[in-house]
Amino acid sequence: MGGLSHDELQQAARDHLLLHFSKQGIDDLLVLERGEGPYVFDTKGDRYVDALSSLFCAQIGYSHGEEMAAAAAAQLTTLAFNTNWATAHPAAIELAQRLAGLAPGDLNRVFFTNGGSESVEAAWKLCREYHLANGQPQRTKAIARDIAYHGVTLGALSFTGVERFKAPFGQAPIDVTHVSNTNSFRGWEGGPVQDEAAFCARLLAEVEDAIVAAGPDEVALIIAEPVQNAGGCLTAPAGYWRGLRELADRYGALLMADEVITGCGRLGEWFGIVREGVTPDLVSLAKGLTSAYAPMGAVVAGERVVAPMAEAGAVFRHGITFGGHPVSAAIALKNIEIFERDGVLENVRALESHLERGLATLRDLPIVGDTRGRGFFWAIELVKDDENATFDQAERDRLVRGFLPGRLREAGIIARADDRGDAVLQIAPPLISDAALLDEIVERLGDVLTDAGAHMGVGTTTGVA
Ligand SMILES: Cc1ncc(COP(=O)(O)O)c(C=O)c1O
Repeated sequence: MGGLSHDELQQAARDHLLLHFSKQGIDDLLVLERGEGPYVFDTKGDRYVDALSSLFCAQIGYSHGEEMAAAAAAQLTTLAFNTNWATAHPAAIELAQRLAGLAPGDLNRVFFTNGGSESVEAAWKLCREYHLANGQPQRTKAIARDIAYHGVTLGALSFTGVERFKAPFGQAPIDVTHVSNTNSFRGWEGGPVQDEAAFCARLLAEVEDAIVAAGPDEVALIIAEPVQNAGGCLTAPAGYWRGLRELADRYGALLMADEVITGCGRLGEWFGIVREGVTPDLVSLAKGLTSAYAPMGAVVAGERVVAPMAEAGAVFRHGITFGGHPVSAAIALKNIEIFERDGVLENVRALESHLERGLATLRDLPIVGDTRGRGFFWAIELVKDDENATFDQAERDRLVRGFLPGRLREAGIIARADDRGDAVLQIAPPLISDAALLDEIVERLGDVLTDAGAHMGVGTTTGVA
């Protein structure tokens, strides 16, 4: 790097670097300069367990730089760049073929992008082209879920169900109805769901009502994540995805799984949706596709989606210069090779229930209301009393933005305190983490949450202080 000192970096960041989704001008910004295995190191040399995998990306951790650099160098010295725009190159073609082989059902067609939002928008355009080619131009609407995050570019933002991220930017370009998400901790009159089948039926009835209200022949797409991130790792009740599949088929809409987080091994599968026993029409990927050794995203589409376009001799009217960049594609291919060689999916599958049990022990803490998730993707819901009362806005500010970031840092762990829904602490450790590291993560979170409880006065007779 340019060799700026710790203090100079802090100053230069304050002066010049606009942070994403963060307060600007942070006094003591965490500046990470090195990674090793599941750990990252800041400019003071302090080590952190990256229990969030750099925002759900660093599936294989940080020690594969040389191998990835060799893959990138081989590509750079052969063909540094070309597009998938009227031409193609071997790296993208081979990667498309590999992904088609890993995907379930007829998900055989791959369109490359640079990230998640671009993947969501490209999927929407594929969906629109499908309906146009089928003579149904009126299908312009979509169904998504409350609090779900599907990206922030203006098209993708239409699907995102977090009002405060949307309000400043005016009317969304896509007409989306947001329905209830699958939060089973609050799903029944604000409390935990007792009857999963009834909960599932109620959620699906709401989706059907939304389709009917929007105009059954006007809905183009139903979009959802296999495990919804925002709101805190919301898993779906049994039968929910099969129900979505049936509704999409009954009303002529396409079904999309947004797997920007849940794909690429996070749930122990390349495509997390296979755990639901359903094949969607479209899947978006990004983040873990390269384990973040380079930026890349993809949409994987079913033959059924692409066929009407091909028959009509239609051109897919969408393109992104860097989509499928050969260096990113070469790195993604190497990532798949490393997954297979090192048994990365097997590691997640073997340790999922170990992590689940470890996190469940935290429920003994008064501030912990629920622990939930799948694979290596978990949330701890934070509550203010035995009745699982939620923190109000001022309390969330004090807990989520005030206390937790500093205390987590002090504990040497990177995790995500979030309140797009109710207050949660989320983890998504690198998929190479072993049992000892997962135990260490749970232990550190336990210490942090014990202190958080004391800070918020949870568990005292007077309630939240
Ligand atoms: C489910 C989901 N979809 C889309 C996105 C947007 O991805 P990106 O930030 O790469 O644009 C995200 C980002 O976290 C996501 O979690």
